[in-house]
Amino acid sequence: MKFLLVYLTCLTSICAPVLAKEQPLQNKRILVTGGAGFLGSHLCERLLKQGHYVICLDDFSSGLPSNIKTCQENPRFQFIEHDITQPLDLEAPLDEIYNLACQASPPQYQKDPVQTLKTNVFGALFVLELAKKNQAKVFQASTSEVYGDPTQHPQKESYWGNVNPIGIRSCYDEGKRCAETLFFDYWRQYGVRIKVGRIFNTYGPRMRIDDGRVITNFIAQALNNKPITIYGKGDQTRSFCYVDDLLDAICLLMDSSDEVTGPINLGNPGEFTMLELADKVIALTKSSSPLIFEPLPLDDPKMRKPDLTLTQKTIQWAPKVSLEEGLKATVEAAIAH
Ligand SMILES: NC(=O)c1ccc[n+]([C@@H]2O[C@H](COP(=O)([O-])OP(=O)(O)OC[C@H]3O[C@@H](n4cnc5c(N)ncnc54)[C@H](O)[C@@H]3O)[C@@H](O)[C@H]2O)c1
Repeated sequence: MKFLLVYLTCLTSICAPVLAKEQPLQNKRILVTGGAGFLGSHLCERLLKQGHYVICLDDFSSGLPSNIKTCQENPRFQFIEHDITQPLDLEAPLDEIYNLACQASPPQYQKDPVQTLKTNVFGALFVLELAKKNQAKVFQASTSEVYGDPTQHPQKESYWGNVNPIGIRSCYDEGKRCAETLFFDYWRQYGVRIKVGRIFNTYGPRMRIDDGRVITNFIAQALNNKPITIYGKGDQTRSFCYVDDLLDAICLLMDSSDEVTGPINLGNPGEFTMLELADKVIALTKSSSPLIFEPLPLDDPKMRKPDLTLTQKTIQWAPKVSLEEGLKATVEAAIAH
């Protein structure tokens, strides 16, 4: 009998890590706002694969039903069409919330700036109320845009930013800054467990080819052999993170201990000028597109690059996918679409 007990104990401890990898110890109930968008739909898929119950909320303002088509086949998936600027009361208990609802492409979010601001501020407020009611952990998809046109390079989380409060990008930048304020006030005032990630440019399959972000613009123009539009001289820089890398980081942040609130930078520190990016896209697509130069849009940041010191310390994460690999997958998905 004693032998059997020792044998079973050994067997359990050997098997436990393997089981933990394949099956979550607890199937959580998770709300993903903006779940039909580019990042949100990849996140819903990943959470379903981990065995969780996923409630996806979206108003389809930039997200698409086709993004969640495979999720819809899963009995653990539920979709709610809802505008997050309106109060939100879900009966179901929730363990975690990922707040991703907000259009992320400048031409899209500038079409209705008041709605963008409401999405960021009221959306954060309603989501935080839900988290408070359910004692759920809540992730906020913040952004490198909170640094504005930075005077420090690369950007550390301690940098307060250089943001125009009344410009055409402010509905997004200031909206996200106000959302961060709300998150930290709910954490201080009500003890809500928050996780704030400042996402730098992220790309990958399922981005809308017409959404006006630089990578999709370049790919669409190159595939059609149309001139590639470079704003300014093309020497402004950005850092691009592949979607799979970003999701690894978001999940690590969500699973970190409650003391880890963020904000932490989530992005790839590789830095490329717009001219370098255009060259890579032209080479990958074997395009004959020429470059055309247009004036810089208002308040366009000159450079962006995350300092990942704090991120590496808190969640031990670093991106793995190179820009070449990520662009290849994104171009292939755009061709297949
Ligand atoms: N992709 C990036 O490079 C990046 C960088 C920084 C931050 N972010 C943040 O990550 C989140 C997701 O970005 P994305 O790239 O997937 O953009 P996306 O536009 O593809 O996804 C946003 C989703 O939110 C939905 N949405 C917008 N307003 C809503 C509202 N009022 N109510 C309900 N749903 C609403 C849209 O329909 C869409 O499905 C956004 O909050 C964005 O600000 C993204």
